[in-house]
Amino acid sequence: LHVAHIAVEMAPVAKVGGLGDVVTSLSRAVQDLNHNVDIVLPKYDCLNLSNVKNFHHHKNYSFDGTEIHVWHGKVEGLSVFFLEPQNGFFNAGCVYGGGNDADRFGFFCHAALEFLLQNGSQPDIIHCHDWSSAPVAWLLKEQYTHNGLSQARVVFTIHNLEYGAHFIGKAMQYADKATTVSPSYAREVAGDAAVAPHLHKFHGIINGIDPDIWDPYNDKFIPVSYTSGNVVPAKRAAKNALQQRLGLRRDDLPLLGIISRLTHQKGIYLIKHAIWRTLERGGQVVLLGSAPDPQVQNDFVNFSNQLNCQHHDRARFCLSYDEPLSHLIYAASDFILVPSLFEPCGLTQLIAMRYGSIPVVRKTGGLYDTVFDVDHDKKRALAQGLEPNGFSFDGADAGGVDYALNRAISAWYESHGRFDYLRKTVMEQDWSWNRPALDYLELYHAARRSI
Ligand code: ADP
Ligand code: GLC
Repeated sequence: LHVAHIAVEMAPVAKVGGLGDVVTSLSRAVQDLNHNVDIVLPKYDCLNLSNVKNFHHHKNYSFDGTEIHVWHGKVEGLSVFFLEPQNGFFNAGCVYGGGNDADRFGFFCHAALEFLLQNGSQPDIIHCHDWSSAPVAWLLKEQYTHNGLSQARVVFTIHNLEYGAHFIGKAMQYADKATTVSPSYAREVAGDAAVAPHLHKFHGIINGIDPDIWDPYNDKFIPVSYTSGNVVPAKRAAKNALQQRLGLRRDDLPLLGIISRLTHQKGIYLIKHAIWRTLERGGQVVLLGSAPDPQVQNDFVNFSNQLNCQHHDRARFCLSYDEPLSHLIYAASDFILVPSLFEPCGLTQLIAMRYGSIPVVRKTGGLYDTVFDVDHDKKRALAQGLEPNGFSFDGADAGGVDYALNRAISAWYESHGRFDYLRKTVMEQDWSWNRPALDYLELYHAARRSI
C-alpha cells in the first residue's frame, strides 16, 4: 500500500504531544511491514532541522494564488514533504498559536492534497489526524474524486475529541474509516454527537510506542544502558544522575516522576495532591511539565517555590518542554503518575513501562486498556496474556489518588525483591506497534475494499 499522512505534528521535528509521536511511530511500523509511507507536514519556522536528513528543495507549485515551496527530507527514516507557503502562515507559532490556527491548517490541508495531486503521488490511503487535518477528509471527497487522487481512501483518527468537535464531526462523516486511539476511549465517546452517527466505520485501536526511539538499551540521554536483565543497577545510576542534575540529595527514597502537558485533561489537582501525598509518605518527586495557559504555569511556579521551602531536598519542578530530560526522568523514576481526567490513549505510561518505571494511573481511556492493577486486575490482565503491571484508581478525587499511590509506595518500601520483579515484568511487556500496526493495515485494506 501507499499511505500518505497529512499531519501538523511529527516527532521529533515538530512535536507538541502524543500526536507527534504517533504520526512518526505508526508510519515507521507500517513502513517496516514493507509499505510505502509519506508524510506531508507544514514547514514551520521553528522546525527542528537538525533531525532532518538530506533536507533539500523538491519543487514549487502554486495553490489558491499562493506560491508554495516544497522541501523533502528523511525524519527517523521516513520520507517527509514540508510545505512552505509564501503567505507566511507557518512563520509564526510553533505548531499551534501562530494566528488563526483553523485558517492556517485549513489552508495547509488543501495545499497538501493539491501537492499530492500535482506530484503524481497517487496514495491508496490518505490518513489524517484530529481537528487540525480533518478538512482533508471532506476536501478530498468534495473536490478530488475525478482526478489523480480518485483512488485514495481517507482514514481519519481522533486523538482527542476535546478540541475542534465541529471539524471532527465533518471528517467523521466523510472518512471511509475512522479510528480513535484506544478501545476504551472509543466506547467512552461513542455517544458523542460527532461520533454516534458513524459507529459502523469507527474503531478503537490502541497506540504503540516506537521501541527504537524509546529504548533504554540505546538511549544517549541516560548514563547506563539497560534491559530487564540489569534494570536495577542501571536505574539506580539514572536516579543518581538525575538527582545530581537537579540538586536532589536522597537516593534512598522512591521517586515519583510526572511528565505531562499541564492542562485540565491531565488532572492538575490530582497531580498536586499526589505530590503532597508522595512527600508525606517519604517519597520524592520530579515534575517535567509545560502549561499552555500562563496562569497554570504561574500557579506551578508558586507551588514549586512553596515546596522548595518546605521540602527542599525532595521535590523539583522543571516547567519546560525538554525531550532529553524526559528520557532521563523515565529511566530514573520508580513510578510515573498519570491521573488524567480523560485520556484517549496516553503514551507516558507505555514509555514508563519500557524504562522499568511503574505506572500509577487513573482508570480511563487508554490508561484503563494498558495498565492492570497488581491488586485488582489479575484476571483482566491474564485475559490479555499479560501480568499486572501497575497501580490504578477509579474516582477523580484525592481519595482515589491516595488509594493507588499509598499501595505503590508501600510496595516499594516493603519488598525490593517483589518491586524489582515488577520492574522486569513491565519492561518485558510489548507496547510497541507490533500488533496495532497490523490492525491499521487491516483497516487500510478494508477502506480500499469500500471503493
Ligand atoms: P498528550 O498527547 O495528551 O500530551 P501522551 O501521553 O499521548 O499525551 O503524549 C505525551 C508525549 O509528550 C510523551 O511522549 C511525553 O513524554 C511527552 N511530553 C509531555 N510533556 C513533556 C515535557 N514537558 N517535556 C518533554 N516531553 C513531554
Ligand atoms: C492525544 C491524547 C493522548 C494520545 C495522543 C496520541 O494527545 O490526549 O491520550 O495518546 O493524542 O494519540
